[in-house]
Amino acid sequence: MNRNVLVTGATVGIGKEIAQLFAEDGSSLVLVARNKSKLEAIAKEWRNKYEIKVEPIALDLSKPGSAKVLFQALAKKKLHVDVLVNNAGFGANGEFAKNEFTVESDMVHLNVVALTELSHLLLPGMKKSSAKVKGILNVASTAAFQAGPYMSNYYATKAYVLSLSEGLHYELKSQGVHVSCLCPGATRTEFFDRAGMQENNLLNNEFLLASPKSVAEFGYKAFEKNKAIAIPGFLNSLLAQSARITPRFIIRMITAKMNKG
Ligand SMILES: NC(=O)c1ccc[n+]([C@@H]2O[C@H](COP(=O)([O-])OP(=O)(O)OC[C@H]3O[C@@H](n4cnc5c(N)ncnc54)[C@H](OP(=O)(O)O)[C@@H]3O)[C@@H](O)[C@H]2O)c1
Repeated sequence: MNRNVLVTGATVGIGKEIAQLFAEDGSSLVLVARNKSKLEAIAKEWRNKYEIKVEPIALDLSKPGSAKVLFQALAKKKLHVDVLVNNAGFGANGEFAKNEFTVESDMVHLNVVALTELSHLLLPGMKKSSAKVKGILNVASTAAFQAGPYMSNYYATKAYVLSLSEGLHYELKSQGVHVSCLCPGATRTEFFDRAGMQENNLLNNEFLLASPKSVAEFGYKAFEKNKAIAIPGFLNSLLAQSARITPRFIIRMITAKMNKG
């Protein structure tokens, strides 16, 4: 497919799997993450394997102004973007008041500000693009559907991503620009290590952990069809829906217990 796709958080996990699906359909890629050597290794491998253009850009998107820096780097390289995959994100386990504020603030910048700013900067170009399928695939979480004590800020960032995505989906539908929000449940990636959740009981339950590849495939297909919300897995979907009818104090109690592990 003749289109340019930018994926944030493309070195490992869900983002790498999503990027690979676009590589397989023949899209050109811009891959963004902090780890330069990992990005370059992936770019080299996929250029050979898929005979596509792959541009690695190493950048810390949790820093204020980073979305603009990325936008300027794209302009300098004369790269336009037909599809933006806002995937990079992280969580931090523990009591909000006891966690380092720099970590919580970086999280808001990465999960919320960079995602929002990149979307705003790239949408005008997308609207003009002649690509058959163009738009934004945002990666939120099932955390978006409820509050999450002991990961409160993370859950709040994902609620924002879901709400923004749904709004943009509606605004842009009639203009031929897709906006989908992928809301995975627990997935086997580096996320839990990075969030300080190595001891969490959830990780011992293989049944509850999805593979990043299956999650990515679900999100990719949902984006191609312009589904507003994509929740992979029957159980995840059921839990997300049940959060709407279960009393909120019960949801808070269950989620707190889950996050404390
Ligand atoms: N795994 C789960 O259970 C789960 C469930 C629901 C939702 N999600 C969401 O899925 C998305 C992907 O998570 P994952 O599970 O695949 O996590 P992961 O394995 O930890 O991968 C995170 C990716 O984001 C990049 N990244 C992290 N911080 C960054 C920064 N400051 N600037 C630029 N890139 C950064 C990482 O690369 P570098 O370290 O090289 O920067 C990596 O490529 C996240 O938004 C997460 O919230 C995950």
